[in-house]
Amino acid sequence: MLAPFRTGRRGGMAGYQETLDRLKRVGQEHLLRFFPTLDDKQKSGLLGQIDALDVESLPALIERYVRNPAKHAPPSGLQPVDAYPHDAKSARKPWDRLKYKSTGESLLRAGKVAAFMVAGGQGSRLGYDGPKGCFRAGEVSRRSLFEFFGFGIRRAEQQYGKPVPWYIMTSPQNHASTQAYFSEHRYFGLDPAGIRFFQQGMLPSFDMRTGKVLLARHDEVATNPDGHGGSIAALEKSGAIADMKRRGIEHLSYFQVDNPLVRTLDPVFLGLHAGAPDSSGEMSSKMIPKTSPEEKVGVFASVEKNGRRVVDVIEYSDFPPALGRETNPDGSLRFNAGSIAVHVLGVSFLEKLAGDPNFELPYHRAEKKVPFIDLETGEHVAPAANNGVKLEKFIFDAIPLCRASIVLETDRIEEFAPIKNATGVDSAESCAQIQTLRAARWLESLGAKVPKKPDGTPDCVLEIDPLHGAEPADLRDRVQGLAILPGERRVL
Ligand code: UD1
Repeated sequence: MLAPFRTGRRGGMAGYQETLDRLKRVGQEHLLRFFPTLDDKQKSGLLGQIDALDVESLPALIERYVRNPAKHAPPSGLQPVDAYPHDAKSARKPWDRLKYKSTGESLLRAGKVAAFMVAGGQGSRLGYDGPKGCFRAGEVSRRSLFEFFGFGIRRAEQQYGKPVPWYIMTSPQNHASTQAYFSEHRYFGLDPAGIRFFQQGMLPSFDMRTGKVLLARHDEVATNPDGHGGSIAALEKSGAIADMKRRGIEHLSYFQVDNPLVRTLDPVFLGLHAGAPDSSGEMSSKMIPKTSPEEKVGVFASVEKNGRRVVDVIEYSDFPPALGRETNPDGSLRFNAGSIAVHVLGVSFLEKLAGDPNFELPYHRAEKKVPFIDLETGEHVAPAANNGVKLEKFIFDAIPLCRASIVLETDRIEEFAPIKNATGVDSAESCAQIQTLRAARWLESLGAKVPKKPDGTPDCVLEIDPLHGAEPADLRDRVQGLAILPGERRVL
């Protein structure tokens, strides 16, 4: 099993010579190139960092993912998935929304559901300094992404009368600042005893040409978080799974840090996951129809793996472009099931995977600009082009390991407005527009008036406070007889 960071030290930290010998055996002794120039604190810091690294596994990893970067071959026999349609009355696959909502609500009322947020990413595309969850996603309220989620969870606690624990995966780069932000904001009114932060693992970053591990500083190995797929091992290692079992948690509502519209705890989705005849209750997913073949979302497909037909997510960069452009007779995309990275995970499924010595998710390779120390000059280099390889695991690679897995279609405007980029698609601006569209839709469905521009879009900026409502009916009393003024900015 390839696991470049070991779980524990071998009884006391190794000294310089022992570390050098280990590194030499795997051709990575350059990591100690500047050792003689370091002060004592730096020396022990660097030896400690290398000591925690499973250097023995590096040659196989480098050979497979850095030196021979065979493109991730898409699995064979790709077919569209048979998702539960957003319109539960659809002739294609009718289903009983109210029944499953009630199943999900029972789970919430029994205190069997927790929230699980992955927030360990580097957020490099947004160019935001600090944990991405601190980014202000409320155009009117200026509230942060973290606050959106915290308020959504608080509302569910109030509605269902049971605490909803919140597990939060950070990485060493943002762990302390994330915790500090929560504390400064008084945990958004939640009980801090129900919030559990744990750190994901880190992997070394590699030089793309040579496969050598890069140095970030004279006394620091360049590393990157090991991907949200690292969460399964991290949940186990941190004791979070044991904590869930102690609290009687059976299902985790999983979401990313970038989408303020996420239904942090959706009873319908929870109910389908736990109760649908074709669900194993192990891992379920939500999808939206893709806007175009090029949209940068993972795609759900049914594939053949080890003689079984299973649900899988093919990341956008790996999806065969010609297949992505195929259409149905009505012109819709044949592979239209875009992932919004929202799942429900069964705690017993996680426990089973984490306890299996043969369990391993594959690594995905990304070429990136990784700042490094030039070994000849000792100088810090900020590369203009990609020079490094980062390896990551993806949580959705666990879906094909399920006995059965369901996918639920949802509505983009209701549930998906991620903030990923500084401008354009998936930016704060597009997110604010979608928030306004959603709020306008809710208001109009409740008989309130929303001013429109000549092109039919709302002539106002609206935001829904997640504490006030998770669905239109929750706002009924608040918006009775309301008429929004042209140009008005308002939180509902
Ligand atoms: C992700 C999905 C994509 C999906 C899209 C929907 C991946 C690889 N792709 O794309 O299939 O359609 O969201 O918005 O996830 N994270 C960690 N630790 C890490 C890396 C990431 O916690 O080591 C967290 C981030 O903080 C973030 C989430 O995972 O919350 C997504 O990460 P990101 O790499 O930005 O994925 P996307 O490219 O946005």
